[in-house]
Amino acid sequence: MSPISRRGFLKLASRFLTATGLAILVIPIVAYFYPPKLEEMPSEPVSAGPLDGLPAGRSKTIRFGRYPALVIHIPEGLRAYSAVCTHFACIVKWDAESGQIACPCHDGFFDPLDGQVISGPPPTPLEALKVEITDGEIFVGGIL
Ligand code: FES
Repeated sequence: MSPISRRGFLKLASRFLTATGLAILVIPIVAYFYPPKLEEMPSEPVSAGPLDGLPAGRSKTIRFGRYPALVIHIPEGLRAYSAVCTHFACIVKWDAESGQIACPCHDGFFDPLDGQVISGPPPTPLEALKVEITDGEIFVGGIL
């Protein structure tokens, strides 16, 4: 086996760096058009604690299978969403000051009534989850 020449090594290194650079550019673009899907949803409803522990205007982030879920108590009632942003999967938070669900990563904002995108780069609404109250306890489970 002959040793690799200097020119051959530089060609190889150049091709490697070009491929790496293309991957760095292409992967985020592809991820934008194919946002993360919720998988492995819990098969049973998950408790979010007692209703009186979540007064109007407050929120709670709970563990929902592999992903967190955001439960918010707005004047219209309780709402629950997957807390995974539909842009690049950052975790969204309730912003009581603006009355919106906010993603801190790229300033994405969602409507707390239905999870629709208000502004920012998220391509689709938040995944809405079913909320039920049983014996004064909040349960989150199942996609609406
Ligand atoms: S990850 Fe949420 S706005 Fe980008």
